[in-house]
Amino acid sequence: MTETTTATPPRSGNRADKTLLRALRGEALPTPPVWMMRQAGRYLPEYKATRAQAGDFLSLCYTPDLAAEVTLQPIRRFGFDGAILFADILLVPQALGADLWFVTGEGPRLSTITAQAEFDALKPAADVHETLSPVYETLRILTRELPAETTLIGFAGAPWTVATYMIAGRGTPDQGPAHALKAANRPLFEALLNRITDATIEYLSAQITAGAEAVKLFDSWAGSLSAAEFDAYATAPAKRIIAELKARHGDVPVIAFPRQAGDKYRGFHAATGADCVALDDSVTPDWAAANVQVDGCVQGNLASRHMVTGGEALVSETRAIVEAFRGGPHIFNLGHGITPDADPDNVRLMVETVRSA
Ligand code: CP3
Repeated sequence: MTETTTATPPRSGNRADKTLLRALRGEALPTPPVWMMRQAGRYLPEYKATRAQAGDFLSLCYTPDLAAEVTLQPIRRFGFDGAILFADILLVPQALGADLWFVTGEGPRLSTITAQAEFDALKPAADVHETLSPVYETLRILTRELPAETTLIGFAGAPWTVATYMIAGRGTPDQGPAHALKAANRPLFEALLNRITDATIEYLSAQITAGAEAVKLFDSWAGSLSAAEFDAYATAPAKRIIAELKARHGDVPVIAFPRQAGDKYRGFHAATGADCVALDDSVTPDWAAANVQVDGCVQGNLASRHMVTGGEALVSETRAIVEAFRGGPHIFNLGHGITPDADPDNVRLMVETVRSA
């Protein structure tokens, strides 16, 4: 970056030549584009300062100027190729009428959906915009403020993962309450999944209209579904969401992240229509290159703990991942979100290693 030009050229919207969009369209690039899950977050002092200014996490999500500011912070610091909208997957349940709050040090809490009457009290999917419109404003600000080479990524939780929080009212280690409702009252479980799927289509569609150039579906708990249930509750909803977004918006690229899918990562591009499949770090890059990248772009998959531990292991693992995926389309990322105890210097080392590998 030089400071010599007098004016910043305007960002030219959906520029097809951005590296991240080129990878999503299937191009193998000499240097993979790079960004990180949870790249805006508590490991950054500037994030903590803006969050304190907002007062609490949800106010930060719903104040467009501040949400745009924390989205931009890691771009300024590290020059990532992708900027992910700052929001949360649990805003959709809230927009459907669930109560949502965050307990400091513990995580999210929601009112629960375990009986028909609670489901019947939810709002229709088309009404989510009432609550979510500040998120669209955040995206509009970002389309003006991001560097021209940075791809703006919108996101939502996948229906199964969002349902696990709505049923249990909190995060759970084994998604037990959601599995229990599925067994006890499958019609109610499926009605809830369908409502979330419809709401997610409305939400992501509005994100794309507001400027998101690609969108990502986070299915963080896909790994707890059995093989048959994986098809019904991870693959099928993703397929419906992707088909509808592409029908409404042309060939907008979609990244799907069925975390901990293991062997079920194989074939996920074709089964869902996703342009890119994001990998957690429980699969090896060599296996994923041979079994998943053969079908399209992959994203991943450095273990997040390297952002805490750093050093030679970070460098050698980063190089090994870049090398394993060099033959096809690849976006470098972590296997899951960066943790609050991470050291920003390790993030810088990771980015430099990717770009010099
Ligand atoms: O990646 C980014 O920088 C964009 C913003 C983003 C957040 N959450 C901000 C956030 C994204 C993409 C998410 C996704 C998300 N949220 C997921 C899916 C990805 C994953 O991690 O598996 C899930 C399951 C959630 C739900 C959620 N939000 C939980 C369980 C928690 C509490 C745990 C925690 O890390 O504190 C959150 C809170 C949350 N979402 C924070 C951030 C930066 C921390 C809030 C804070 O500042 O205190």
